Amino acid sequence: MKKPNYLIIGGTGKTGRKVVNSLELLNQNVRVGSRSASIPFDWNQSATYGPVLEGMDRVYITYQPDLAVPGAFDAVSELVSIAKSKGVSKLVLLSGKGEVEAERCEQVIMESGLDYTIVRANWFSQNFSENFLLEPVVQGVVALPMAEMKVPYVDTDDIADVVVECLLHEEHNKKIYQLTGNERFTFPEVCELISSATGREIKFIPVTLEEYVQVMKTMDLPEIYAWLIEYLFSHVLTNPDNEIITQDIEMVLKRPAKSFRNYVKLTAASGVWNQAVHLEN
Ligand SMILES: NC(=O)c1ccc[n+]([C@@H]2O[C@H](COP(=O)([O-])OP(=O)(O)OC[C@H]3O[C@@H](n4cnc5c(N)ncnc54)[C@H](OP(=O)(O)O)[C@@H]3O)[C@@H](O)[C@H]2O)c1
Repeated sequence: MKKPNYLIIGGTGKTGRKVVNSLELLNQNVRVGSRSASIPFDWNQSATYGPVLEGMDRVYITYQPDLAVPGAFDAVSELVSIAKSKGVSKLVLLSGKGEVEAERCEQVIMESGLDYTIVRANWFSQNFSENFLLEPVVQGVVALPMAEMKVPYVDTDDIADVVVECLLHEEHNKKIYQLTGNERFTFPEVCELISSATGREIKFIPVTLEEYVQVMKTMDLPEIYAWLIEYLFSHVLTNPDNEIITQDIEMVLKRPAKSFRNYVKLTAASGVWNQAVHLEN
């Protein structure tokens, strides 16, 4: 039987690059979908959807910046319709746990008539090292709202491993997996963990959502990112469902979810949180 061809959208991103690595180690045929790939793919230009889907059998979909933003539903709908016309057989969608807006996009995948798996992830551990929370940690001052929220952060290694399983094996068809870590932490607790692992003081300052949004508006951020961060804090983190710890990682991978404490140790050892200190030296 012919080996399937895999398209990994966002294949150089936080989860996508790990999915690409694992599939390549398994000697699978992999194509990266991104603006800088050899066949450029841009969510904002639907004319790029057809060429990248040509000849593909199974597709991992990560939408940038987030399935909740205006325009995501139309873009995902168009991609799915072109994927069908090109003979794609299976879709695996990365979605956000507790994100009601993202569920509209999930519906498009579930009603496509193709095989599918929905992978709903909680907040990534790597938001502190590869995303918008890296800079405050490097600067040593983390000012955030919702100080009391307890988040079961999920490691992108686990998300990628689950996605690879779903892409490879039929038993995951028509399933919705909800991925979380196995321990919950508030933002002040995260700062304490990072402080003790790096040996630097990472100060936590509680602010209101209004204060946080005001500060973001003074920064040079694209409008959609400021909107998205406000949405994530006001609608997603406040969703009580997001405090619930699930066992789906262990169910799919037959091993426990990776620990957030260990993520902090490994990331501290990588030096990424000491960038400023290194620059001064
Ligand atoms: N962060 C969280 O805590 C969290 C939690 C749950 C769900 N999610 C979901 O995760 C998804 C993002 O996945 P991720 O974090 O793995 O990816 P990511 O790291 O945010 O994405 C970066 C990748 O996307 C590509 N990219 C960026 N803009 C693009 C565009 N306009 N068109 C095509 N490709 C583009 C980049 O390559 P180029 O620069 O070459 O284009 C790169 O390959 C979002 O939909 C979000 O809702 C995130």
